[in-house]
Amino acid sequence: MALSSNALRILFLVVLVCTAHAGKPAPKEKSEKKEGAAEASGPGGSFDISKLGGSGDGKTDSTKAFMEAWTSACGKEGAQKILIPKGDYLVGPLNLSGPCKGDVSIQLDGNLLGTTDLAQYKANWIEIIKVDNLVISGAGKLDGQGPKVWENNKCNKKYDCKILPNSLVLDFCNNATVTGITLLNAKFFHMNIFQCKGVTVKDVTVTAPGDSPNTDGIHMGDSSDVTITGTTIGVGDDCISIGPGTTGVNVTDVTCGPGHGISIGSLGRYKDEKDVTDINVKDCTLKKTTNGVRIKSYEDAASVLTASKIHYENIQMDDVANPIIIDMNYCPNKICTAKGASKVTVKDVTFKNITGTSSTPEAVSLLCSEKIPCTGVTMDSVKVEYKGTNNKTMAVCNNAKGSVTGGLKELACL
Ligand SMILES: *[C@@H]1O[C@H](CO)[C@@H](O)[C@H](O)[C@H]1NC(C)=O
Ligand SMILES: *[C@@H]1O[C@H](CO)[C@@H](O)[C@H](O)[C@H]1NC(C)=O
Ligand SMILES: *[C@@H]1O[C@H](CO)[C@@H](O)[C@H](O)[C@H]1NC(C)=O
Ligand SMILES: *[C@@H]1O[C@H](CO)[C@@H](O)[C@H](O)[C@H]1NC(C)=O
Ligand SMILES: *[C@@H]1O[C@H](CO)[C@@H](O)[C@H](O)[C@H]1NC(C)=O
Repeated sequence: MALSSNALRILFLVVLVCTAHAGKPAPKEKSEKKEGAAEASGPGGSFDISKLGGSGDGKTDSTKAFMEAWTSACGKEGAQKILIPKGDYLVGPLNLSGPCKGDVSIQLDGNLLGTTDLAQYKANWIEIIKVDNLVISGAGKLDGQGPKVWENNKCNKKYDCKILPNSLVLDFCNNATVTGITLLNAKFFHMNIFQCKGVTVKDVTVTAPGDSPNTDGIHMGDSSDVTITGTTIGVGDDCISIGPGTTGVNVTDVTCGPGHGISIGSLGRYKDEKDVTDINVKDCTLKKTTNGVRIKSYEDAASVLTASKIHYENIQMDDVANPIIIDMNYCPNKICTAKGASKVTVKDVTFKNITGTSSTPEAVSLLCSEKIPCTGVTMDSVKVEYKGTNNKTMAVCNNAKGSVTGGLKELACL
């Protein structure tokens, strides 16, 4: 659904205010063998949660062990490692706050399971705040256990709904790397990147059913220098969504589907949103998604902002409903009050070598606003064909200006 990052920022601040008054210690729980963190720390600075009272049986709450490992690792200088060995570790919300004294890495060999007791969450499941140089790696899974709680999501009925916990959240983190892991069945978004600079997501798998509610793959907002590469995402909402205030993003070698595609936006929903610029999406495949590459902004945008220097290249569409779409009249749940009042400028957008098939006749839809037309749109070798036999391939361009080189002539509507 791509909530604006402003909504997430407000939520984040509310949580900070609430928790400031809720400083009571976590209930003390028994642990068979309580070893000090110092003992669990090896020469390389390694904190193994199974040696800190955590249990990989999938049932015992290992939150305390994880938090103990975090507090110790974050409080030490130099390279520190938190190890989640093979096994299933059930944990509640993990508030991993920095700044840390050294550089922390989390080695995920086993799996973390997010508790389904929603009362335990203030906002997100694994929330990393103000931590620089963090590395999360391994072949393990972050399992949100969404199927047990998705029925509590009422966001399709109520726009300002209570949102379920996002799985992995990076707030104000510089130079973070997430690699190798799988994010499975998040309760809400799988990953949310907010006000970070320098984030790399590499060789990651994100998986949830195509009909799961608001399970966006990777959302980002107010961030810069983000790389997503070698990653496979199949979810119930946007595979990747790039929110306001984001600059310098490279998405390469990503396969998306099922899902709602690779989106920029939604833009303009809230006041004071910042520009989106320098976005490159290259060498990606979209399979049976509702959208391919999309830019969406609210019809009655509350912010004046610009989305520019957006480049899509070598994108393979496989049975995609709306392969190329700019929608400046976006208005889910009919909440817009003014028609055609967009304040969002979309310019300098290139679609180069976009090939494959569309499941609807309109392979290209550039629906820009009358007030602020899209400018500098380039279509170079765009060849996406309608798969069906009852109609022909077509393109719709409203208020879009630019040029076409090569490609299917049916799509040359600019
Ligand atoms: C997380 O922990 C930090 C410091 O330990 C605290 O200031 C903050 O309020 C906590 N946030 C949440 C969401 O619990
Ligand atoms: C960023 O993280 C990488 C990988 O952990 C590290 O090698 C590099 O030194 C970090 N860069 C900065 C500027 O801290
Ligand atoms: C993205 O790719 C471009 C062109 O290859 C490069 O100049 C830029 O530094 C890259 N940005 C990031 C965040 O990696
Ligand atoms: C066009 O993109 C496809 C992948 O979608 C790639 O296989 C092909 O080599 C590209 N063609 C050119 C001319 O770059
Ligand atoms: C072909 O598709 C267009 C656009 O979706 C639609 O308006 C039109 O009615 C279709 N024509 C036929 C013959 O189905």
